[in-house]
Amino acid sequence: MTTSQSRVARRVAGLAPSGIRKFFELVERMPDAISLAIGEPDFTTPWRGRESAIYSLEKGHTHYTPNRGTQELREAVASYLERRFGISYHPDREVLITVGAAEAIDLALRAILDPGDAVLIPQPCFVSYPPCTVLAGGVPVPVPTRVENDFRVQAADLEAARADRPRALLMCYPNNPTGAVMGREDLESVVRWAAEKDLVLIADEIYAELHYDGGHVSAAAIPGARDRTILIGGFSKAWAMTGWRLGFAAGPPDLIEAMAKVHAYTVMCAPTMAQEAALDVLTGCDDEVAAMRREYNQRRRIIVKRLRDMGLDCFEPRGAFYAFPSIAGTGLSSEEFAERLLREEKVAVVPGAAFGACGEGFVRCSYATSIAALEEGMARMARFVGRVGG
Ligand SMILES: Cc1ncc(COP(=O)(O)O)c(C=O)c1O
Repeated sequence: MTTSQSRVARRVAGLAPSGIRKFFELVERMPDAISLAIGEPDFTTPWRGRESAIYSLEKGHTHYTPNRGTQELREAVASYLERRFGISYHPDREVLITVGAAEAIDLALRAILDPGDAVLIPQPCFVSYPPCTVLAGGVPVPVPTRVENDFRVQAADLEAARADRPRALLMCYPNNPTGAVMGREDLESVVRWAAEKDLVLIADEIYAELHYDGGHVSAAAIPGARDRTILIGGFSKAWAMTGWRLGFAAGPPDLIEAMAKVHAYTVMCAPTMAQEAALDVLTGCDDEVAAMRREYNQRRRIIVKRLRDMGLDCFEPRGAFYAFPSIAGTGLSSEEFAERLLREEKVAVVPGAAFGACGEGFVRCSYATSIAALEEGMARMARFVGRVGG
């Protein structure tokens, strides 16, 4: 007899459900909970972008665009990357517009992996990287990073991972969930190591604009990196456009061509009105992005201070919109901590273990929420930590 289990591919059946989803479901059933679990901006997309999508619909632009995205948007992405990070890409051959950075990650992995190829993944990391690697036929190899090194990945950590048949290194700075960033020298040693092993570097830089300490350095801008790097970015975070589903990848022509092939056979193109909106925000919303960055930075200072004041060790996050305090002193696992905090004080955070085994002992607190909600959430959390002992 066929059971529903046997109809599901082993590769899919074997994927663990996301550790984040469980908490979202619990929070949804608690309307008065304060959620510090969210991974998306509380801001609305700048008006300029919303207006251009409305015009796009009014003008009847309801058709497919070219597979790789509109010419105008690819040109705008290329000049943005040049202007902000000093890397030049050819808009026709080296830029692909995708359905969120999420699709770009999936395409990058599917385009480069043969069955059994290993992908080195510094952790704690965005929850999608290991499952997307498995779905693309690859083998995720976790590379633990440590708070002592400010959660930056180092060549020695990569070497110690001893992956069989390593094909790619997939990393994210500024980082979700730790808020860690990598400086030029950190990147140089990682790029040198990747070059020695002849790896493709997949650099998820979706939080590039949310850097609070001197500005982002792109991995692709490091000498020797460009031709082995797939640079991934997107509009969700800095431009508050999560629901529009728009991202991009830039890289050498052979890799972008391979990704475009998979993209054309699967999603065909990213949404047309979202591409028109993105063109306008990319070329005309620097002030709005700067204002959101200032606001996040203010919240960052508040949350880090409150976490430290309640007795938790909190690594200084310098990018994205997450704090990643240690809860090891409470004696609770990260899952116990998050569950009890939610039930007892109605504050949602994400257990660090959801981001890889080395995230155990930490929780992720998002500060993409109002200062009033942050203050209330921190007051409740301080009460909880005081009770369980820190
Ligand atoms: C590190 C990282 N990469 C990619 C994504 C997906 O972004 P998008 O909305 O552009 O698909 C997220 C979303 O949370 C993220 O945190």
